[in-house]
Amino acid sequence: MTKAFVVGHPIKHSRSPLIHGYWLQVHDLDGSYERIDVEPVNFGDFLRSFGERGYTGGNVTIPHKEAAFAGVDRRTERAERLGAVNTLWIQDGLLWGDNTDVLGFIVHLDQSLGTGWEQSVDNVMVLGAGGAARAVVAGLQDRPLGRILVANRTLSKAESLVHDLEGGAVRLEAMDWDRIGEALAGCQLVVNTTSLGMAGQPPLSIDLHTMPDDAAVADIVYVPLKTPLLAAAEARGLRTVDGLGMLLHQAAPGFERWFGVRPQVTPELRALIVADIEGRI
Ligand code: ATR
Repeated sequence: MTKAFVVGHPIKHSRSPLIHGYWLQVHDLDGSYERIDVEPVNFGDFLRSFGERGYTGGNVTIPHKEAAFAGVDRRTERAERLGAVNTLWIQDGLLWGDNTDVLGFIVHLDQSLGTGWEQSVDNVMVLGAGGAARAVVAGLQDRPLGRILVANRTLSKAESLVHDLEGGAVRLEAMDWDRIGEALAGCQLVVNTTSLGMAGQPPLSIDLHTMPDDAAVADIVYVPLKTPLLAAAEARGLRTVDGLGMLLHQAAPGFERWFGVRPQVTPELRALIVADIEGRI
């Protein structure tokens, strides 16, 4: 039997076992995917010993993504660029790390807006400068865009993000949180990567009225599925991209690596996770 895991602290609320469990069942595979709670002080030991404990690999979530980056033997180019690892596996005796959040975000964006969406997008605004913002910016950077503005409450974190990721063809610019309103008028896409709008958190209140009529609004928060930001965008007649797709699509490359089958993000899988989210709000 092939065994995989998701490791984090806390890990109780992770939806990854539901996603991978669904795929294991659909493909009738002899495998398991379990939650493992590991405190930060024990994470290094865990990284070095999961192979001996019979695991093929797994996902890494909060707060271990940076420690996983530091602790692996080899990293993919994407993980290298981001400084964070969310997918682990062992290959030829070496511990490898990838970051599939980048692909998860961009695949879902392409599916939601339709391929070629970049043709009508010059400026993109990314709100937030944490790990999720890095994955979003890295995904957007591969596209022929004019400029990516990164606005964050703590400006210095936006500046570090820009410093660490700049160098491609797309211009990156850090921006004051107070300037969001005026800058949105020139943006055709805005992406929220902050925790604002999540159940139990204050909403993200930005005024979308100045945005162009053909603009799109994406949120990576998926509890609730329709965040106050997405509801405001819908009311304003803008296209919306929800946060659940990123979660589902980031899971697929890991599953393929551990279990050898490329899984599909189907409407049935989406409905399963939506039911779980709605049952718990
Ligand atoms: P993740 O890895 O999921 O991106 P994170 O690194 O904790 O999580 O980042 C959370 C983001 O939400 C940060 O950009 C944070 O802004 P700061 O860097 O200023 O802390 C943002 N955030 C959280 N609460 C916020 C609030 N009340 N107002 C504005 N931004 C907020």
